[in-house]
Amino acid sequence: MTARILDGNALSAKLRGELATQAAELAARGAQPGLAVILVGDNAASAVYVRNKVAACEKAGIRSLKFDYPQDARPAAVLAKIAELNADPAVHGILVQLPLPPQFDEKAVLEAISVDKDVDGFHAENVGRLSQGQPAFFPCTPHGVMKILEYGDIPVTGSDAVVVGRSNIVGKPMAMLLTQAGATVTVCHSKTRDLAAHTRRADILVVAMGRALAIGAEMIKPGATVIDVGMNRFPDGHPKAGKLCGDVDFDAAKAVAGAITPVPGGVGPMTITMLLANTVESARRAAAGGR
Ligand code: GUN
Repeated sequence: MTARILDGNALSAKLRGELATQAAELAARGAQPGLAVILVGDNAASAVYVRNKVAACEKAGIRSLKFDYPQDARPAAVLAKIAELNADPAVHGILVQLPLPPQFDEKAVLEAISVDKDVDGFHAENVGRLSQGQPAFFPCTPHGVMKILEYGDIPVTGSDAVVVGRSNIVGKPMAMLLTQAGATVTVCHSKTRDLAAHTRRADILVVAMGRALAIGAEMIKPGATVIDVGMNRFPDGHPKAGKLCGDVDFDAAKAVAGAITPVPGGVGPMTITMLLANTVESARRAAAGGR
C-alpha cells in the first residue's frame, strides 16, 4: 500500500484564496484586516518565520505591521508597544514571535495581548476557552492539522488518536482539539516508557517531537493517518543530508500508512494559513461590533 498524500500546500492555496476574498470584502466596508507582528532578538529561524507570515498577509490583502526589537530589548518597551496595538482599532491580530530572549517573562508578554487580538491562541484565557470547548482563537499549527483531517475526509470521531509531544504550542492544544472532535486521545512525550506501543495503536498519529526521522514504519499501524509536525534536516551521513525532513521517516512510513503529510508541504503552510484565518475572523468580529 502507498499512503495518500495529504497536501498542505494545495489546501493552503485554496483556503488562502477564500481568505483573500473575505479580506477584500471587509476592506470594501472600511474594515481591512490588520496583523501586527513583533520580532525580538536575532533568532535566524524566527526571522524567516516572521518574513513568511508578513509576505502571506500582503498576498491575502491583510495589512501587516512589523516591529523589530534587538536581542537586549527592554521588556517594558515591548509591553508598551503591545498596549498601543491593543488600543489600535486598525489592528485585529497581535503576534509576538517566540522564543523571546531570556530577560523576558514569556507568559507575561503573551497575557499582555488583548484576548480578542490573540490570533496565535496562546493567551491563558484562549487556552482555557479551548479546554472548555468554548469559541476561541485556536493555536495555528494544531488548528491547521484539524483542517487537514477535515478536508482529507479523515474520520476523527471515535478514532484512537496519539499525539507525540506535549508543548503549549502544539501537543497540548492538539490533544484538546482532537478530544473536542470526539477522538480518544493519548499524549506521549519524552518520559513515555514505550512510545512504539502507543503509536502502533493510533488511527491518527500526530508527531511533534522535533527529532529527525524518530518515527519509523514499524511504529505505525497499517492504514493509519500520520501527521508530521516536525521540521528538521536529514542528519549527516544520510543520502539526503541537509535537506528538510520531518519527525517521521516519510519514505518508509508511506508504505504502511493510509494517509500522510509530507515535509515540507504538509503542516507547515497550514500554520500560516490559520494565522490569516484567525486575523480575518478577528476583523470580522470587530466589524460586527465585538466578540
Ligand atoms: N514560535 C514557534 N511557533 C510559533 C507560533 O506559531 N507563533 C509564535 N508567535 N511563535 C512561534
